[in-house]
Amino acid sequence: MVQAWYMDDSADDPRLPHRAQPDRPVGLEQLRTLGVLYWKLDADKYENDPELEKIRRERNYSWMDVITICKDKLPNYEEKIKMFFEEHLHLDEEIRYILEGSGYFDVRDKEDRWIRISMEKGDMITLPAGIYHRFTLDEKIQGNSHSS
Ligand code: LAC
Ligand code: NI
Repeated sequence: MVQAWYMDDSADDPRLPHRAQPDRPVGLEQLRTLGVLYWKLDADKYENDPELEKIRRERNYSWMDVITICKDKLPNYEEKIKMFFEEHLHLDEEIRYILEGSGYFDVRDKEDRWIRISMEKGDMITLPAGIYHRFTLDEKIQGNSHSS
């Protein structure tokens, strides 16, 4: 199940978990009240997955692209990482599906407190239009497929 929690106020490295003390977990129910929806899928078959197709059909998701957030694969990596973590909003839904690796999506609740959502392989979320959010990688070394 997806892990989410209220964040502390520390200005340390964003990639740290930043769990509020004492722990204040956030459940799917609460995320749903903010309009944040979550699915767990099988990322290994994303290219041919009836479950994913059903969600895309029902929610009218007609377009997709795949990005790899990795120093040697994402052009302007440092700049992008910085942009992702700058608090922002969109006029449309943000739909993200993790095919490999992990990271954190932070969203503001209705009182403007940050909730951190821990996302890993197979996790898909949609953030509603107009919600303030940001993204960062976590502390895990992001998977790479180099065999040499
Ligand atoms: C985006 C995420 C990182 O806008 O919020 O792509
Ligand atoms: Ni965004």
